[in-house]
Amino acid sequence: MEAVASSISVDSDCQGKRVRVWGPGSLSNLGPGFDALGLCIQHLGDRVEAWRIETPGVRLVETNGPPGSTIPSDPATNTAAVAAAAVLRQAGASYGLALRLHKGLPSGSGLGGSAASAVAGAWAANLLLDQPLPKEALVEAVLEGEAVASGSRHGDNVLPALFGGLVLVSASDPTCYRRIPLPAPPAIALILPRVEILTRSARDMLPRRVSLRDAVHNASALAFLIDAFRAGDWETVGRWMMADRLVEPVRAALVPCYEAVRQAALAIGAFGCALTGSGPAMFALARDATHAQQVLAAMCEACQESGVAVKGYVTAVDLEGVRQL
Ligand code: HSE
Repeated sequence: MEAVASSISVDSDCQGKRVRVWGPGSLSNLGPGFDALGLCIQHLGDRVEAWRIETPGVRLVETNGPPGSTIPSDPATNTAAVAAAAVLRQAGASYGLALRLHKGLPSGSGLGGSAASAVAGAWAANLLLDQPLPKEALVEAVLEGEAVASGSRHGDNVLPALFGGLVLVSASDPTCYRRIPLPAPPAIALILPRVEILTRSARDMLPRRVSLRDAVHNASALAFLIDAFRAGDWETVGRWMMADRLVEPVRAALVPCYEAVRQAALAIGAFGCALTGSGPAMFALARDATHAQQVLAAMCEACQESGVAVKGYVTAVDLEGVRQL
């Protein structure tokens, strides 16, 4: 993939070991789990390279990513740098860090791009501490990183990207979370229609008030969804994944091919199909990688027939989360 890059000159005070870290992408909401449920995925993510510098603070010495990416070069607004700075502060470090950020995830895709950078920045800073901390100790730092991009502290992308697998997180207190065991995770067909949606505006468009009827429907849908995930009952996962009444019906209007893609995925036997995060990316669960290829082809065709250019991927659940490369 062609990349756009920007760089600034850096002090000659870089020293010691360098670390390279992978921050994975993630699917969030998964239907009725708005701000509460996320799944870490393989193959798509961001990379950070980091080393200590004498000057305190975090410097972004280089950022690059897919063409058209908007990558903040100011460390005060870049999620990798903010999360790394939070780790340094938490550890009381007297030195600073230099970071190189390579974004594989496009901005405004719904694939957890800001979260992937945040966890990669935090983990890189952590690996460079004299005494690295366990992942559980980095929750506050990664939430702080994510918040600069989306305007709120929600954990449904950063916590799956940190821990891997499926994570349930409290929407009102994202420091409260639980990893949900997944027996034999399914294959995933994922499309990225060429429509840019900014998380911040896709949040602002949501209704401030909802009906009690829809709220209780969503509460029970999420409970059934989690139960089905734990059981590995993918038919039931698919059914409840498509049962959101609060958020996805509003945001579907932002993706012109939404209904056509959903119908195409279901017609070829996908267990369910939904937006991820604020979109426009959509995913469908499939029996295995071969089936996921067929589902993907159907989803891409439906998207193109609706006049929207699209990229597609077959992926799977990443059970490990952020890691050193
Ligand atoms: N849960 C968040 C939302 C995720 O849907 O706005 C943003 O990627």
